[in-house]
Amino acid sequence: MRVLGIETSCDETGVALCARDADGAVRLLAHQLFSQVDLHAAFGGVVPELASRDHLRRLVPLVRATFAEAGVAEGEVDAVAYTAGPGLVGALMVGAGVASALAYAWGVPALPVHHMEGHLLAPLLEDPAPTMPFLALLVSGGHSMLVRVDGVGRYTTLGDTLDDAAGEAFDKTAKLLGLPYPGGPRLAVLAEEGDPKRYRLPRPMLDRPGLDFSFSGLKTAVMLAVREAAGDDGTLAPQTRADIAASFQAAVVDTLVARSLKALKQTGLERLVVAGGVGANRELRRRLAEEVASRGGAVYYPRPAFCTDNGAMIALAGLCRLGDATADLPTMQARPRWKLDELAPPREAHVHH
Ligand code: KG4
Ligand code: ZN
Repeated sequence: MRVLGIETSCDETGVALCARDADGAVRLLAHQLFSQVDLHAAFGGVVPELASRDHLRRLVPLVRATFAEAGVAEGEVDAVAYTAGPGLVGALMVGAGVASALAYAWGVPALPVHHMEGHLLAPLLEDPAPTMPFLALLVSGGHSMLVRVDGVGRYTTLGDTLDDAAGEAFDKTAKLLGLPYPGGPRLAVLAEEGDPKRYRLPRPMLDRPGLDFSFSGLKTAVMLAVREAAGDDGTLAPQTRADIAASFQAAVVDTLVARSLKALKQTGLERLVVAGGVGANRELRRRLAEEVASRGGAVYYPRPAFCTDNGAMIALAGLCRLGDATADLPTMQARPRWKLDELAPPREAHVHH
């Protein structure tokens, strides 16, 4: 079985081919990515209309390149999976439209995939892959969530973002420090040169019950620290800038680690999967590896390239949901808002030979 995956929910155009072997193992055959970072950099953030137009320009050539890289004839797939949401509606519609057209032309089903399901299944492409059940920490530009995963489509949200998502907090703080878009990864680089103990920033929510996240208080604290540290001309000394970056990163990482450990303890789960763009953060990885391992648990990540948006996770989710392809799927779904808990397990796949 082979599935083409298409991701266009935000500012990366991702295309990939994944296969499931006779023994049930999943395999990545090829993946291609075009990042729109340069396109949006001048505007300091993603411009939705420009994103849609660029997806339209890049998508078909990327599909061709993916088949060529895999050495597979164009159209030799069992389904075309695409991100149907959540995301920017125009960007989603480009992926949905192209995927549906290709699927129709090739006589195979088009499978709408939930973007966050793609993120949380992504570590299954790695070796060793986590076995279910596991706890997933999903930290991206739009989400900070803790999800209990009992199987494909069996998701229970244990904690969610009350305001800014973790990635959003990284991006906004980066902007405050004068770093260009995309700020999150740049702030992480700057933080490596800073002293994380110089500024005592709040660890949001750690004194509160439950497993939800809130980062707006931290954002305000950073803003005050920047204002206080700035010179008369409003600029920050380079070391001060790095120290604020490091102190901010430490506060976010502390919060994510503490919440994850609490959720592991509460659920009795031993495996933690970390996915989404912030999962690429090295300090978060280092701390989680240390703290979860010392409690006898194990942490799983996608490779850094598959932490951020990509087509491989969508192709993989499509493979896991091939059973749904037998249902009468409404064509071209684009759902800007879509709760992960609304998903159901896939139907049994019909295996053809
Ligand atoms: O999953 P993703 O690519 O897109 C969404 O679905 O949102 O996540 C992007 C987010 C951005 O907010 C970006 O700043 C953040 O992930 N990010 C990072 C790092 N790499 C990406 N944040 C902290 N450290 C990083 N190394
Ligand atoms: Zn994402």
